[in-house]
Amino acid sequence: MPAKLLDGNLLAKKMRTEIAANAIILAAKGTKPGLAVILVGENPASQIYVRNKIKACQDTNIHSVLIQLPQNTSQAELLVQITKLNQDPQIHGILVQLPLPSHIDSHSVIEAIHPKKDVDGFHVANAGALMTGKPLFKPCTPYGCMALIESTDYPIRGARAVIIGASNIVGKPMAMLLLQAGATVTICNSKTRDLSFHSKEADILVVATGKPKMVSAQMVKPGAIVIDVGINRLPDGKLCGDVDFDEVKYVANWITPVPGGVGPMTITMLLQNTLEAAQHLHVRN
Ligand code: GUN
Repeated sequence: MPAKLLDGNLLAKKMRTEIAANAIILAAKGTKPGLAVILVGENPASQIYVRNKIKACQDTNIHSVLIQLPQNTSQAELLVQITKLNQDPQIHGILVQLPLPSHIDSHSVIEAIHPKKDVDGFHVANAGALMTGKPLFKPCTPYGCMALIESTDYPIRGARAVIIGASNIVGKPMAMLLLQAGATVTICNSKTRDLSFHSKEADILVVATGKPKMVSAQMVKPGAIVIDVGINRLPDGKLCGDVDFDEVKYVANWITPVPGGVGPMTITMLLQNTLEAAQHLHVRN
């Protein structure tokens, strides 16, 4: 029997309805949640992502500001913008769309964002807080993957979880979230020997490699939950994930589609983090 679909669009819609309602409640108390998005240059994929983030804010009663800067913006100019936003009381979350042009050091830019406004959860203070189990903001993609996994009602506690991909943005924070939920976690990377040996052990398999359809049916444990973070464009223009969906759906019990799985959840968790940033500030004021 084919796997059940983990529908990110459906879960995102449900969560965004709640976020929109909570944003109205907070605004009525005097704090309208606000997100600033900075885009440097004209990367076409980044332009689409940023447009989607701004639209999602509009749909959920979150104030948004888009700052578009030219490709040749200096690091110093970008840091000036971030300092201004750090001090702006109407802005509760700041997101600098990555990748940045190569003449800018992304690490320095992320570290310039105030950790309490770092709704991407990329600042070392937030990455460290996640390690110790007290995260202020969880990075949006792993946070969204967790929401999808939790929606299956499968007991994460005691489960074997395997993550393929060890990036700072997805793989490593995903491991921390699953570990804190009680899973036994393995993180595989591009040097892992006998990847199938590990992936076939997984009750929960999360794949974030950027390699189209690299996970085949033979690599998946029957009955597993398979979360595909990848989004790749094939030569024919179609989108596909890092998992061979058409094969793996006959082995897994739950699987995310691409598109329509993790993607809509990433933006939803950004909205959730922005709402939480505004709620924290409201409590402090
Ligand atoms: N580029 C691709 N994904 C992301 C993300 O989650 N946050 C930011 N800031 N840039 C990205």
